[in-house]
Amino acid sequence: MEYVPFKLQIVDILTKALSISQFQELKQKLTVIEVKLRFQLRDAVSEGARLKILFESDIRKKKKRRKINWFNFIRLEGKVVIITGGAHGLGATTVRLFHQHGAKVVIADIQDHLGQAITKELGENVCYIHCDVTNEDDISNLVDTTIAKYGKLDIMFSNAGVVDRPSGSILDTPNSDLERVINVNTIGAFLAAKHAARVMAPQRKGCIIFTASLSTPACTSIAGLSTPACTSIAGLSTPAYAVSKYGILGLAKSLAAELGGCGIRVNCVSPYAVMNSIQGLSEVEVAKGEAIMSAIGNLKGQVLRAEGVAQAALYLASDEANYVSGLNLVVDGGFSIVNPTLIMARDI
Ligand SMILES: NC(=O)c1ccc[n+]([C@@H]2O[C@H](COP(=O)([O-])OP(=O)(O)OC[C@H]3O[C@@H](n4cnc5c(N)ncnc54)[C@H](O)[C@@H]3O)[C@@H](O)[C@H]2O)c1
Repeated sequence: MEYVPFKLQIVDILTKALSISQFQELKQKLTVIEVKLRFQLRDAVSEGARLKILFESDIRKKKKRRKINWFNFIRLEGKVVIITGGAHGLGATTVRLFHQHGAKVVIADIQDHLGQAITKELGENVCYIHCDVTNEDDISNLVDTTIAKYGKLDIMFSNAGVVDRPSGSILDTPNSDLERVINVNTIGAFLAAKHAARVMAPQRKGCIIFTASLSTPACTSIAGLSTPACTSIAGLSTPAYAVSKYGILGLAKSLAAELGGCGIRVNCVSPYAVMNSIQGLSEVEVAKGEAIMSAIGNLKGQVLRAEGVAQAALYLASDEANYVSGLNLVVDGGFSIVNPTLIMARDI
């Protein structure tokens, strides 16, 4: 409204300088100008209001969008997860990733000092429970303690595993080797799933993930690289380890069928060799192992590390995979679907 005093000022000057008729004429013109200005001002105000509304709704949308992105980024907010074999290797990396994504994580392992160290490092929302997965009482206690502490169980990541020997024929495999890997890898997975299902079924939802194997260097030394196990391609592991991991695949499929009716998803993640998760290897040995695995691998320019497997488990655990069940998610850069003989023949 600043133009009004300005107009009065002009009128004042004009009255003094002009005749009455001239003044009347000018006054009329000024009134027209004033009306026009009023309309322009009204239009400007309503245009301003319109822009303000657009601007504010854009900000609201942006805020909303940011919220959704944030939600997507924190993919396990409030979920309660048990990770067996979570004190070291792939399990420990997954503990860290799931914790970062807002989950409450229970580490179940037999290496108490390592499990407790991770708990201390991550602090809130991570705890350690000693649990030998071959012992049903331990597993039952693990699940009950989790329920007592957090009130629910959303995800069971059955990942604890052992390997037998770097290599070997069925002819020289002692029963004790077979029993040991089956006890930990297969029976341990069976018991973890059994007790997870016990509490998940009444919840009418849940998620069970197993670590099977595509090609695991079954060794504590680089020499053992020749003995990976496999659930997608044969001839890469000792027979005992292969039996234990194929058992997990069968278990996963069977449970996906049975527990789907209770809203429970069951999947496997099957990694190619992961050198940086193997206990006891020096940095040089890890680097050497990775170089060998990359050379024989299919996908060049990438190296599979524990973080890559943890990301695959995160996907299976997250709501993004809420209709994924019965899947064996093979993380091998295409290794198991390639026939290297044909590739070599092509290059001749
Ligand atoms: N590293 C690989 O290349 C690779 C590849 C494919 C699959 N896998 C599988 O991934 C899983 C993890 O392997 P990793 O490489 O991290 O090995 P890792 O030895 O670093 O971790 C295995 C964890 O399981 C725990 N564990 C062993 N026996 C247990 C028991 N009876 N009860 C509870 N916990 C027990 C160990 O203490 C350890 O913390 C295993 O199932 C393994 O077979 C590994």
